[in-house]
Amino acid sequence: MPLLAPSILSADFARLGEQVLAAEAAGADWIHVDVMDGRFVPNITMGFVVVEALRPLTRLPLDVHLMIVEPERYVERFVAAGADVVTVHAEATPHVHRALQLIRAAGAKAGLALNPATPLDWFEDVMGELDLALLMSVNPGFGGQRFIPRSLERLERLRALRDRLAPEVLIEVDGGVAPANAAELVRRGADVLVAGSAVFGGPATIAENLGALRDAARA
Ligand code: DX5
Ligand code: ZN
Repeated sequence: MPLLAPSILSADFARLGEQVLAAEAAGADWIHVDVMDGRFVPNITMGFVVVEALRPLTRLPLDVHLMIVEPERYVERFVAAGADVVTVHAEATPHVHRALQLIRAAGAKAGLALNPATPLDWFEDVMGELDLALLMSVNPGFGGQRFIPRSLERLERLRALRDRLAPEVLIEVDGGVAPANAAELVRRGADVLVAGSAVFGGPATIAENLGALRDAARA
């Protein structure tokens, strides 16, 4: 069974605490927090204050996905704010290795994310510094985009790389995850599924949506 990490990007921000608690009650494993700076990606979202506000509210690990340039400048503050996992993008810093070391030194789990067009080799030489390998299955910046099919094949290759070099590293898939592709993603190697619109969007309740994702992932 994969870990399910609802992304609050698609939550109702006027009722954020309530919706995070609903996701927790419905069995979410992590809460995924998408931080965007309007520079690395064409969107601006949230920062330290949201992580700080959620920290005392939920017992779930806060999985902070930094879509910002020079993430190494902000790693320590996100950990101090309450992040349990901090993920940086390889494309956003000339100092991937240093950024990962900073995350661990600050006391959090270190994640590295790659965009859909970035070669998977980028993971290879830092596998030993990683707790989480995040495979983007859409272009980062927005919720509710369509899953890029090629990601399935990338996921299989990433799984082989991970199994060979660092079996303890978790593989997280982010973007366009829904009940329709959850089982396939698990079969091909996903350990953590991020889902925003599939959990917080649509007419059904958060509990129903998360339940549907869990059932699909288990199939
Ligand atoms: C996209 C973010 C995702 C986003 C996923 O840049 O990294 O975490 O919330 O949204 P869905 O699940 O709607 O594709
Ligand atoms: Zn994300």
